Amino acid sequence: MIQVKKLEKSYDNVNHLHILQNLNLTVEDGEFLGIMGASGSGKSTFLRILGGLETFSGGEAEVCGENLRTMKDAEKELYRQKAVSYVFQDYNLLSGLTVKENIILPCTMMHAEEKATEQDYTAITRKLGIDAYEERFPDEISGGEQQRAAIARAVLKHSKVLLADEPTGSLDMHTAGNVLELFGKINVDYRVTVVMVTHDVFSASFCNRIIFLKDGKFVNEIEKSGSQQDFYKAIQKEMREMDGIF
Ligand SMILES: Nc1ncnc2c1ncn2[C@@H]1O[C@H](COP(=O)(O)OP(=O)(O)OP(=O)(O)O)[C@@H](O)[C@H]1O
Ligand SMILES: [Mg+2]
Repeated sequence: MIQVKKLEKSYDNVNHLHILQNLNLTVEDGEFLGIMGASGSGKSTFLRILGGLETFSGGEAEVCGENLRTMKDAEKELYRQKAVSYVFQDYNLLSGLTVKENIILPCTMMHAEEKATEQDYTAITRKLGIDAYEERFPDEISGGEQQRAAIARAVLKHSKVLLADEPTGSLDMHTAGNVLELFGKINVDYRVTVVMVTHDVFSASFCNRIIFLKDGKFVNEIEKSGSQQDFYKAIQKEMREMDGIF
């Protein structure tokens, strides 16, 4: 479970600039949550805080029973290694490692019993259409392929929580669909809690619930009640009603 109470984020170097303000949110285990909002509304900042990658100025944030405010640096390191998987908006692949080495790197740092198998690796890279590139280096593949390698790395890690920042931003609709099916599968089969930032209504329609941010504040949320198509329409409608935020 993810629990956020009165979360605040501001930067010391920027006077009176609140990046996140009074954010309250509970995400149950096994939810597939989407975060939407205009560029600069604080989506990545929020996700980075949940991922233990950034500190915050006030309030509380707890993920899987771990208190992110009181956690020491060494505990945070372990938290990042084990509790959460993260898909970065700018991929963050290591340039000196091949695609395969990048993807399996987090797994090689885990205990044997938690390790993904070669079979898992093959299934995921095939599903994402990057199995043919495993011996290449990140700068020898396209942006969309790098994005999929970053997704494979996060999914293969098998953490309880997957945090994904614009994971389909560089992908065409068909490839994005495969990524989202994969997220849906680990969400349902392994009850992985997925939190995904997206600008895209099609991607958002795979979620069960969407929260909308504006200027670092929560403005609304909608929940899927019927089909994916109905949810797609509901998200579109919400975006129209929040006119001007996208
Ligand atoms: N180190 C920093 N110092 C000051 N302000 C920052 C810093 N990092 C980010 N910001 C500001 O925080 C705000 C939120 O940034 P964030 O990256 O969370 O937005 P976002 O919603 O993810 O946007 P996008 O859709 O473009 O990715 C922006 O206005 C940004 O300029
Ligand atoms: Mg962002």
